[in-house]
Amino acid sequence: MSGEFYGIGVGPGDPELMTVKALKIISNSDIVAIPESGKGKGSLAYEIAEPYFEKEPEILKLVFPMIGDGRLKSAYGKENALRIKEKTDAGKKVVFLTLGDPMIYSTYIYLLEHLAAMGVKAITIPGITSFSAISASLGIPLVKGDEKLAVIPEFDGDTENIAALSDCVIFMKVSGYKDKLADFLCKNSGRFVLVSDAGRPKEKVTHDLDNLMKTDLSYFSTLIYYRNKT
Ligand SMILES: C[S@@+](CC[C@H](N)C(=O)[O-])C[C@H]1O[C@@H](n2cnc3c(N)ncnc32)[C@H](O)[C@@H]1O
Repeated sequence: MSGEFYGIGVGPGDPELMTVKALKIISNSDIVAIPESGKGKGSLAYEIAEPYFEKEPEILKLVFPMIGDGRLKSAYGKENALRIKEKTDAGKKVVFLTLGDPMIYSTYIYLLEHLAAMGVKAITIPGITSFSAISASLGIPLVKGDEKLAVIPEFDGDTENIAALSDCVIFMKVSGYKDKLADFLCKNSGRFVLVSDAGRPKEKVTHDLDNLMKTDLSYFSTLIYYRNKT
């Protein structure tokens, strides 16, 4: 008997921001697969979802190091996909938990292509992405009418052009390019808000460029830039 595999978005941090569908699937799952950035580093995604497991699941830890190299990430994806397949082949119901939404810059994406090639059907349950939660909690809309929204994960040669064509830009993974971003904000008009660890007790919000420069940013930091607001 073949098992089942689900990729589940657990949202930005507040367990109440998970979908009803996610809770239903999680409640009677056998195995929880959790991505870790290094052995023994733990999983925030599992901490968020833990209250909803009705029976204690077996934990399958999958290491996905924080590396920029796409090919190496894909190699880890293949190895981890094989470990999931072993469990579904044994008839188990496996859930893979991911922060925010699984289809946005998530390690889950590195599993999907390999699972499909191995004949494992993956069912994806969306989650509330970090920037939706930030915009909602601050009460600041992202875009309206015919405005354009861009999402940027790194500061490269295209970034300034993309920003010039957009009304609102969501800068994710900003801890990796904080200096370049501060320089951009200094040179351009507009307004921004930087939020670190949104929805968690240590959440920080700043609109101040000096603060952005001084602070050692958490990996979980997102900056929202409004080009036309002053
Ligand atoms: C690998 S991406 C994962 C995105 C996730 N799948 C989503 O839908 O939000 C990690 C980036 O998401 C953003 N992020 C995730 N959680 C966050 C939070 N609680 N507060 C602020 N930014 C967050 C940060 O920009 C972080 O560098």
